[in-house]
Amino acid sequence: MTDKKKVLAISGSTRTNSSNERLIKKIAALAIADIELTLFESISELPHFNPDLDNTDKLPSAVIAFRQQIAAADGILICTPEYVFTLPGSLKNALEWCVSTTLFSQKPAGLITASASGEKGHEALQLVMKTIEAKFNGATLLLIKGIKSKIDMDGNITDDKTLQEVQTFTASFVKLLN
Ligand SMILES: Cc1cc2nc3c(=O)[nH]c(=O)nc-3n(C[C@H](O)[C@H](O)[C@H](O)COP(=O)(O)O)c2cc1C
Repeated sequence: MTDKKKVLAISGSTRTNSSNERLIKKIAALAIADIELTLFESISELPHFNPDLDNTDKLPSAVIAFRQQIAAADGILICTPEYVFTLPGSLKNALEWCVSTTLFSQKPAGLITASASGEKGHEALQLVMKTIEAKFNGATLLLIKGIKSKIDMDGNITDDKTLQEVQTFTASFVKLLN
């Protein structure tokens, strides 16, 4: 029996019990045999990115903790809505704090955009993650449109096609981690 892979999950929605957070928990349940998933809870505590602080002795402690969590993870799962046709500012801000590092370089990543529509945000997410050299492929990408009508408040995916897509995505992400 192999050890479970450590995954840090980041939700691009700061809303309590958001659909993206529920989706992360669903994926954690689907992959429970293979993955030990930790939800990054502190995205709202990251200060605005400031190059003057980056990689200096003034690096904010919340950023240091965030970077340590990424470094300790075997892979990253991002589930995010699209806001005004791109990434939510808080997620973009978190990723900006990593641009000067190699933390994401060759780090396996599963990237889900779960939104009302989401195409542009999904493209932007891929471009950012490619730029910081995260390791992902077509099977570890998923766009879920109309998410609010496809997952209930208990995190059950109520749409059969979406459930199948999430199951296939999860299996591919587990494969990428191994
Ligand atoms: C400020 C704001 C901007 C939004 N812009 C978009 C958008 O451009 N495209 C889209 O598909 N949905 C947009 N939405 C709707 C979100 O997709 C929807 O609220 C989604 O369910 C949020 O995910 P959550 O449930 O995880 O918070 C926007 C929502 C907010 C609050």
